[in-house]
Parts: sequence; structure tokens; C-alpha cells
Amino acid sequence: MKVLILGGDGYLGWPTAMYLSWKGHEVAVVDNYFRRRACTELNCEPLLAVPSLHQRGELWQAVSGRKIQVFIGDLCDYQFLSHVFQEVDPEGVVHYAEQPSAPYSMMGREAAVFTLTNNLVSTCNVIHAVAEFNPDCHIVKLGTMGVYGTPNIDIEEGYLEVEHKGRKQKFLYPKAPGSLYHLTKAQDGDMLYFYCRMWDIRVTDLNQGPVYGVQTDESGQDDRLASIFNYDSIFGTVLNRFVVQAVVGHPLTVYGNGGQTRGYLNIADTMACVELSLLQPAGRGEYRVFNQFVETFSVNELAEKVRGAGRQSGFDVKINKVPNPRREAEEHYYNPVHTNLFELGLKPHYLNEAVLGDMLAFVKKHSANINLDLILPQVHWKTENRCNSIR
Ligand SMILES: NC(=O)c1ccc[n+]([C@@H]2O[C@H](COP(=O)([O-])OP(=O)(O)OC[C@H]3O[C@@H](n4cnc5c(N)ncnc54)[C@H](O)[C@@H]3O)[C@@H](O)[C@H]2O)c1
Repeated sequence: MKVLILGGDGYLGWPTAMYLSWKGHEVAVVDNYFRRRACTELNCEPLLAVPSLHQRGELWQAVSGRKIQVFIGDLCDYQFLSHVFQEVDPEGVVHYAEQPSAPYSMMGREAAVFTLTNNLVSTCNVIHAVAEFNPDCHIVKLGTMGVYGTPNIDIEEGYLEVEHKGRKQKFLYPKAPGSLYHLTKAQDGDMLYFYCRMWDIRVTDLNQGPVYGVQTDESGQDDRLASIFNYDSIFGTVLNRFVVQAVVGHPLTVYGNGGQTRGYLNIADTMACVELSLLQPAGRGEYRVFNQFVETFSVNELAEKVRGAGRQSGFDVKINKVPNPRREAEEHYYNPVHTNLFELGLKPHYLNEAVLGDMLAFVKKHSANINLDLILPQVHWKTENRCNSIR
């Protein structure tokens, strides 16, 4: 397939590009380096310095013999996006290119407005480009399980059938996001659903849980191909952060009671889910929603797993409960359905000591780069505690 990956420089975008390229797809990537710029501005650089996207493309070609076409520019600029669409003429578009951090979106007014504008305008432009240049092109957009919040009933995959006064109707599952970032994911999902109904575009929305991991089969060939890996409290995801904390001997930072439960998946499973969705696309006019995760854990359970694997690898891991900077339920019911991707053929990777052992070893190898100032949370959800400029 001809696949255009938006946000192809990011934590998930670059490994997806290599994965699909290795599988024989024709891959092009777009990025505007927002993530890199934000890391520099906030002084939260990733574990490893990452070559530019053009350099990564060249490295990948040297390693694999395959070419990934690179475009640097902003999706909010429709002229730029139109040019890319006409040049690539994709059959599938993977839309990763959003501001992906909940804490970033809660930092202050400017970050909030940026998150809203970037995430909604980029999605709107993608829809218009598809409609203008190839209405048959399938959009695979990365959403988040965080759009649902933590309701006291089972979470279905996208839709809920409601019976009201003797009549039935299927609605999008009610959303109750817990950060402005998550709200934009609810809003861009609504926008895609709207255009499916209005213009018969094809969309798969992958409501993904937090991803962990760094190395994939493709990046394992050369560390310079590794994904951008953040361990700070703004861009780092929880398990990646815990692994870094374990390696440097910092107590694992469990927020509040640690009963917050979410659905997690290995970075390798993200790639597989995206390819499965591309190869078995949504129909014209269909807004398809998949809950993309493999297994659920509370934060306490994750911390215990890291402590156990750390012990095996020779790290003395301590766990510390820190005041929760977020506003969220710390004990709650959580039972989301997640069968659609398994039915499409997902062969999941589960979180075990071997997986954690590999992550610990990778981080240890690069541990000289770890900045301890980035471990504790900096952004608070409540207005009075909010931090407008980090460090
Ligand atoms: N990483 C996770 O655990 C996770 C979980 C659930 C959902 N997601 C979603 O998956 C997607 C990718 O996440 P990620 O962790 O790889 O984030 P990331 O920040 O590493 O990747 C996103 C990339 O998009 C680029 N980008 C942002 N706005 C852009 C614009 N206007 N034009 C061009 N490029 C732009 C950024 O520079 C970045 O490289 C995001 O939409 C995120 O919300 C991620």
C-alpha cells in the first residue's frame, strides 16, 4: 500500500514508518518537529539524541535498502498538506500528528490554545485533503482510551446502544476526558464521525491506551534508529518513566493512591494494529472505532511489575506515592471491551519480566544521559497550582 504517516518523526510515527516499510509498503512521512522543539523549549530532552528525519530516512535506507520519503512541514498549513497529498497519492493515511501530552495541554492558556488549534485544525485539514484529492483514501487516526474517562459501566468499542422509552438507538459512547488533550481527541473523533456521515469518507479511530517500549525489530539494528524516548513528566508515558526511575534509583512516582487503571500495549502492538487497520479498511461512510490495548493494569500493579523485573536485573527499586497532580479517580471500575483488533488478527505481546528486562537494559546503556530533574511531576491540573513555564 501507499501509506502517508503524519507525525512520522514521533515516538510512534518513526517506528511505524520503518515497520510498514519493512513489510513492503511504500511509505512517506510528514512532521513539523513540534515534539522536538517542545522538548528543547521545556528542557526535557529525550533519553537519546535523535537524528533529523532526513538523516533517519538515509540511515534506514542504508540498513534496509528501502526508501522512506520525508516531508517537513505543518499540517495546519493546507497548501503544504495539499502538495504532499498530490505528490504521494496515499491509499491510507495514519494520523499521529497531534500534541499528545495531557500535562502539556494543562500547562497554561497558550499551551491549551495550541493543543486545541493544532489537533483540531490538523485533523480538519487531513479530512479536507482526503475529500479533495482521494475520497477513497482510508484515514487511520490515533485516538485515546482517555476519551472515555472511567465510567462505572463497561466501556464499549466506540458506540453504545441506548434504549429510551421503548426505542433503541446506537450513539457514540459518551465521552468524559480528563485533560484538555484528551478532550481534543474526543472532539477530533466527533469531527471525523461528522464527515463520515456528510461525505462518506472512511475512518478508523484507534482509541489507544498508554504505550510502552522503545526498541522494535527494525530499530534494533542500529540505536540511531531508535524512537524518541521521553521519561519526563510531560512527554514520558508511565511505564517508560518507571523503567528510567528504576535504573537511576529514584523511587517510582506513583500518583496518589495508584488505583488508576488503564489499558496498556507494547510499541510493537501499535505497529501491528495500525497495519491490520490499513489492510482491512473501514467502508465508505464508516466511522470505525477500535479500543487499542492489550491488558489493563493499575499504576500500583505496574510499579510492582517494574520492582520485580528490576530485582531480577540487579536494581533495588523503591516505590513512592506522590501527591497526584491530576484530577482523576484513584479507585474506580474499569472494564473496557477490546475485541475488534484481536478479531482482525492481532497477536499481542504481553508485559512480562523479559520485556521489562530488555527495557531496563536499553535504558541502563544510555543512563549517563538521564536528567534527574525531569522525574517529578511539574504540571498540576488545578488552576491555582498550575505551572505556566516549566523550568
Ligand atoms: N504514546 C502513547 O502512549 C499514546 C497513547 C495513546 C494515543 N497516542 C496518540 O498517538 C499519536 C502519536 O503519539 P506519540 O506518542 O508518537 O507522540 P509524538 O509527539 O511523539 O508524535 C507526534 C508527532 O507529530 C508531530 N506533529 C504534531 N503536530 C503536527 C503538525 N501540526 N504538523 C506536522 N507534524 C506535527 C510532532 O512533531 C511529533 O513528531 C498522538 O496523536 C497521540 O495522541 C499516543
